[in-house]
Amino acid sequence: MPGVWKRCTPAGVKFMNLQELSSRYQPELDEELRSLVSDSHLPLYHMMRYHLGWVDAGGQARLTSGGKLLRPGLCLLSCEAAGGDWRKALPAAAALELLHNFTLIHDDIEDNDHERRGMPTVWQVWGRAQGINTGDAMHVLARLALLNLEAMNVPSARIIRAARILDEACLRLCEGQYMDISFEERLDIEVDDYLEMIAGKTAALFASSLEIGALLGTDDAQKIKHLSEFGRNLGMAFQIRDDVLGIWGENSKTGKSTASDITKKKKTLPVIYAMRKAGPEKRETLISIYKQEAIAPEYIPRVMNLLDEAGARQYSADAARRYSNMALEELAKAGVPTSFKDDFISLADFVTGREY
Ligand code: IPE
Ligand code: IPE
Ligand code: MG
Ligand code: MG
Repeated sequence: MPGVWKRCTPAGVKFMNLQELSSRYQPELDEELRSLVSDSHLPLYHMMRYHLGWVDAGGQARLTSGGKLLRPGLCLLSCEAAGGDWRKALPAAAALELLHNFTLIHDDIEDNDHERRGMPTVWQVWGRAQGINTGDAMHVLARLALLNLEAMNVPSARIIRAARILDEACLRLCEGQYMDISFEERLDIEVDDYLEMIAGKTAALFASSLEIGALLGTDDAQKIKHLSEFGRNLGMAFQIRDDVLGIWGENSKTGKSTASDITKKKKTLPVIYAMRKAGPEKRETLISIYKQEAIAPEYIPRVMNLLDEAGARQYSADAARRYSNMALEELAKAGVPTSFKDDFISLADFVTGREY
């Protein structure tokens, strides 16, 4: 199962044991996830297995799987780094991955995207109505998955606390999605609006992944708080990098459209920056393109040039690096053993430099 833990290349990374992490977490995580998605013949579950990358649209097993499994991996690492037994946190890790995947199924409908992880999106294959329903069912599965912490003898009060963290993150995510969608038709979006939006749609779930993992590993409130803040800052860096890849990335690596953010007039950081910092003439051109009802694909190279010339790519890369550094400052305060710290540092490096 090639999640990030397996695919991350060690080159140039000082402390690297992502391979070890992979062999440590992935088989059990995979097993936990598969045990949660019913093998019922009802096509609803087939759609879930398809989205998760386990089968193709015809139901044949696939060798390569879908997601990078970052959120569950971070949850388990956080639990272990905080001093806990990561196996106890598996139900929470699975819940986080299912919740993330429910939001992707809905996000692809909201963004009208046809491709995810190199495959047609669920709604593209089965239609929007079935896509919405599959996402809804996966959301329920995520919440039920978390309750399996009971079988791990996690005290009820702690399970309720974890459930609240997960639901609150999901609500922040919906708030962020609201902002993201509503920004499409606006030209007055500032960098601060963008940061608020990605804090909701992405960083909240990253923060909750670390927080829940730590909560299952320790009673130390300071440790939990700093690990959670590490996750929040890492999530900000992750989304900024995603927005760079959404313009300049390679479709064969990201498995997603690299035209969609521009054609949908998404107000990602490079666009917001260029709309303010490009020279007057270029700014006018950019704004006039974004004032159109829809941006036709033939405008994309022109938009990319305008963004490049304004220095928007470098500005965004610097912003991602700043958040990644802030994440590492939180990590330093969390007081986790050095070997775990090194794993987190490797992950932060991966997040800001990733191509997929
Ligand atoms: C995609 O997240 C959604 C964003 C927050 C940008 P990932 O890139 O972690 O998705 P998968 O699970 O690895 O496909
Ligand atoms: C990321 O949304 C956040 C969620 C999916 C909730 P995006 O729309 O920016 O992410 P991709 O590029 O489709 O993965
Ligand atoms: Mg999207
Ligand atoms: Mg979106």
